[in-house]
Amino acid sequence: MPETKKKLLEVKGLTMDFGGLRAVDAVSLEVSTGEIVALIGPNGAGKTTFFNCVTGIYNPTKGEVLVHPPEKKTQRINGFKPNRVTTIGMARTFQNIRLFHNMTVLENVMIGRHCRTTTSIVGAIMRGASTKRQEQETIEKSYELLKKVGLVNFADEFAKNLPYGAQRRLEIARAMATDPFLLLLDEPAAGMNPQETKALDELIVRIRDTEKIAILLIEHDMKLVMNISERIYVMEYGKEIAQGTPMDIRSNPRVIEAYLGEEADA
Ligand SMILES: Nc1ncnc2c1ncn2[C@@H]1O[C@H](COP(=O)(O)OP(=O)(O)OP(=O)(O)O)[C@@H](O)[C@H]1O
Ligand SMILES: [Mg+2]
Repeated sequence: MPETKKKLLEVKGLTMDFGGLRAVDAVSLEVSTGEIVALIGPNGAGKTTFFNCVTGIYNPTKGEVLVHPPEKKTQRINGFKPNRVTTIGMARTFQNIRLFHNMTVLENVMIGRHCRTTTSIVGAIMRGASTKRQEQETIEKSYELLKKVGLVNFADEFAKNLPYGAQRRLEIARAMATDPFLLLLDEPAAGMNPQETKALDELIVRIRDTEKIAILLIEHDMKLVMNISERIYVMEYGKEIAQGTPMDIRSNPRVIEAYLGEEADA
């Protein structure tokens, strides 16, 4: 029996000004359980700024960012710090990969896990029994995640030595280590070759289906977006110009117009 969908993220009229520039202009968007939702639009449309407002990097100028964590009460998270947003259950990756390059692949995932463990600095130094147990659990959980993203054979490699596509998957594993109910991916396929993109496509669907994590994704690869998204929102110059199913979006004249320039470049 299909589970009933529940709203997880509800953004209403989100606006973000940088001085005189309105980078995001009254954008509303929702993501529910079991969904893969895409946010698309030409370069500079305001997609990353939207993510930054939702994940606590910026405090939006106007609008509401409401989170409905499963089994918990709704929270308005405007102005919450990024760590707090992660602890609530929303994790993200970055358009420009942010890994600890001189740490191992395993350690990068373990760091993500840190927000779910109680080990204090003092605990880590004293290394009491509970600290050791938690550390062991963190290691095991991190290995599990590396298996899920297909990187377990690289566990002891420095992150900087991974091929680009693998670094992007490592970022996803690190975000998953925080036990999110919603994962926000900012251009996860950027710089990937077609084989890597196909593997990513499958990974994202698997995360949604097996891990029960909803996905909000910014992506320029239209094949990937059209393949896996339930719903798509389109932004241009900070404004939301369309939303709908992949079929709606593909045939929407405004979207085609907004993308013509980009397709001519591609
Ligand atoms: N911190 C900032 N200060 C000033 N302007 C900013 C800042 N961050 C983003 N902008 C501006 O806001 C607009 C939207 O940028 P944003 O990075 O959100 O676009 P995007 O849709 O993610 O584009 P891309 O597809 O190229 O990643 C751009 O004009 C950008 O220059
Ligand atoms: Mg961006």
